[in-house]
Amino acid sequence: MQIKQILAEAAIGSEITVKGWVRTKRESKNVTFININDGSVIHNIQAVAEAGVLNEETLKLITTGACVAVTGTLIESKGSGQSVELQVSSALVYGTADPEKYPLQPKKHSLEFLREIAHLRPRTNTFSAILRIRHALAYAIHKYFNDNGFFYLHTPIITGSDAEGAGEMFRVSTLDPKNPPLNEDGSVNFKEDFFGKETNLTVSGQLEGELGAMALSKIYTFGPTFRAENSNTARHLAEFWMIEPEVAFYELEDNMRLAEDFTKYVINYALENCADDLAFLENRLKDEEKTKKADERSELALIEKLRFVVDNEYVKLTYTEAIQILLSSKRHKEGKFQYPVQWGIDLQSEHERYLVEKHFKKPVILTNYPKDIKAFYMKLDEDGKTVRAMDVLFPGIGEIIGGSQREDDYAKLLQRTKEVGIHEDTIWWYLETRQFGTAPHAGFGIGFERLVMFVTGMTNIRDVIPFPRTPKSAEF
Ligand code: 4AD
Ligand code: MG
Repeated sequence: MQIKQILAEAAIGSEITVKGWVRTKRESKNVTFININDGSVIHNIQAVAEAGVLNEETLKLITTGACVAVTGTLIESKGSGQSVELQVSSALVYGTADPEKYPLQPKKHSLEFLREIAHLRPRTNTFSAILRIRHALAYAIHKYFNDNGFFYLHTPIITGSDAEGAGEMFRVSTLDPKNPPLNEDGSVNFKEDFFGKETNLTVSGQLEGELGAMALSKIYTFGPTFRAENSNTARHLAEFWMIEPEVAFYELEDNMRLAEDFTKYVINYALENCADDLAFLENRLKDEEKTKKADERSELALIEKLRFVVDNEYVKLTYTEAIQILLSSKRHKEGKFQYPVQWGIDLQSEHERYLVEKHFKKPVILTNYPKDIKAFYMKLDEDGKTVRAMDVLFPGIGEIIGGSQREDDYAKLLQRTKEVGIHEDTIWWYLETRQFGTAPHAGFGIGFERLVMFVTGMTNIRDVIPFPRTPKSAEF
């Protein structure tokens, strides 16, 4: 039986076999305590072996990290800290873990060290809790969309277009890098490449998502996305997962409502279904907070913070209004922002965090950004200067969602692609949706890892994905 099942439903007195990894072993004169975890829940089960029950050889092999199957009778625990325990009758050691070499000893390891042993870190309480919450959030996302009439659309991972127009793409090619076929002018002849053209890993499923929305009305994507931006920050991965709903007949206001309802639903799902793991992570954070300076400590504990987001309305304001707030802030007047504030700038993380964490102390939806700092597909506002964009900013995270109403007017969209230098022949199919039965529509993308960061309270994105991909790092 899995430990989760044992703790929930196994009857006292029943004969049970538990299979899992040894967390700790403690020996006294007459008895050995073996704590086992199988990853099904944060809790271990304590197996108690009276002296003489297991032979010396087996006992010696049972060390931290070893994998075992232990059979025994479930009894009420005599010790504190657990309600039931297993009175051992026999044990089998599947795999030993040499104590001299096994890196995960029963003590607190730093997150930095654990990143170096990502193949083993799921065996820690912290990472198993994060991975279970990550799973629950993924499930909640599919459930939310399914329950609300959205269809899961699988958009391609290899594409010939640059959806965000930022040029931060990983090339996909089977050409020999040492000896590629060349054109007469010396450039590489991609006509001879596998797909007969230049291709790359997708930065977003949106463009194809829009094609789906123009037929199924409500779709979402949930897949890996890749960005070769060389930003070594705690919030960027080169490979991350993105969820992108796209809805026909939605305008910006509908899109904002969807983003708020969706994020509240999935966060609430975690509150209702991951209570033990959240409680563990909350305690972990409380310990960490104690090491910080008083003014750097967060005001709310993890679960309180999640509740707060679920129970309060997000603040909505325009980019122009946000710039006004920043300009009249004390921090700006004292010259304490590193990056200058002025209408037209791309907001830096320090500006976003000021708005969310200092000024409003709530999630914020910023809309109507200058067109020059946003992607080509966003619908132009009447003033011709701003677009119907929206970014959702979360405390401690900054931007968690980017989205917009889309430009549905063929002539205006074509004009924008030309202005930003996108070749018509790479997205002719996208442009055609505006010629054949175009409709107002909107959507957004939420970075899955940023959501998991928020819910788990982890502050480095490398710690919320099993095997992170970042500049100069693709181990495991
Ligand atoms: O704001 P972005 O670039 O928007 C898009 O890609 C649109 N096509 C989405 C849409 O409208 N369908 O990215 C969306 C979100 C960001 O808000 C952020 O949460 C996350 O994706 N994100 C990253 N997460 C981790 N590492 C990175 N390098 C990320 N880049 C973006
Ligand atoms: Mg963005």
